[in-house]
Amino acid sequence: MTSAASDAFALAAGAAPLQELRLDWLTAHGISLAVLRLDLVDPELSGNKWFKLSQHLVAAHLNRAPGLISLGGAHSNHLHALAAAGRRFSLHTVGLLRGVAQDTPTVRDLQRFGMQLHWLGYGGYRARHRADFWEPWLQHYPEYRCIPEGGGGLAGALGCVPLVAQLQARLGDIGWTGYDALWLAVGTGTTLAGLVIGEAGRHPVFGALAGPPSHAVPANLARLLAEAGMANAGYQLVDASRDGFGRFDAELANFMLQTERVGGVPLEPVYTAKALLALRLRIEAGDFSAGTRLIFVHTGGLQGRRAAEAQLQQLGG
Ligand SMILES: Cc1ncc(COP(=O)(O)O)c(C=O)c1O
Repeated sequence: MTSAASDAFALAAGAAPLQELRLDWLTAHGISLAVLRLDLVDPELSGNKWFKLSQHLVAAHLNRAPGLISLGGAHSNHLHALAAAGRRFSLHTVGLLRGVAQDTPTVRDLQRFGMQLHWLGYGGYRARHRADFWEPWLQHYPEYRCIPEGGGGLAGALGCVPLVAQLQARLGDIGWTGYDALWLAVGTGTTLAGLVIGEAGRHPVFGALAGPPSHAVPANLARLLAEAGMANAGYQLVDASRDGFGRFDAELANFMLQTERVGGVPLEPVYTAKALLALRLRIEAGDFSAGTRLIFVHTGGLQGRRAAEAQLQQLGG
């Protein structure tokens, strides 16, 4: 990483505050909840994205890669952060997008940040798991660093490991001396893997699945943990997907808008609000005893909320 990038990374890494959230459903069950506000680390490289990208940026720098190339959808938080990082650290960026060309607030930002876009259609996007997928792109963009969808891979997970030490360093800010478990939203499982590696069995990590349960996330976790030389343990996956990935209903919209109003923490409906609502349901089902102290890792993604705003307001009454 360039020294500008590593300075910026160090600043961002230390900049996530812990904030205690006081809501009636927590109080009623005697649960304490603090939010690690990764959404506040940087206005453009927000949430888990900074951390997932950090090792990819280091590798791109060490290999003198002229640019970065990755994949995502028309609302992708990952491509948004990648394009912003490229602009900030003078690396070209190429985004391979799912489906046909769309005009969304995210896509407009990608273009403004200078990312070169290619729309792959749906079939073309499905080919991303093939072993030879990157070959033609590397012929077109020689020496570029290819970053898996969502900023994944071992590099993505290892970038999230320092989060554990950072949140522990922040506990004193809210008068806590410890905590019992971590809770966060899961897409690919990369961020969760980083936290499990960082915890090394000291505290369980709960991953709230934003998409319907499938074998893909457990398989990715097993692979990442094996590559890191860790046991495939120390975490639990919880279905938080409700109607499916990216879908929201009135209960979710109401919960999210109400939590924002009362708790003062901004959320978005695809990951963070679903994860928090799943936590509430688990607490109400009695899964955590009174006195439990939980840390909710806010993984950001607020830029993606713009396209959902009208639907949220409509559903939320
Ligand atoms: C806001 C937000 N939260 C959580 C996740 C899930 O992260 P991961 O793919 O590392 O599980 C994502 C996707 O990257 C995201 O954009």
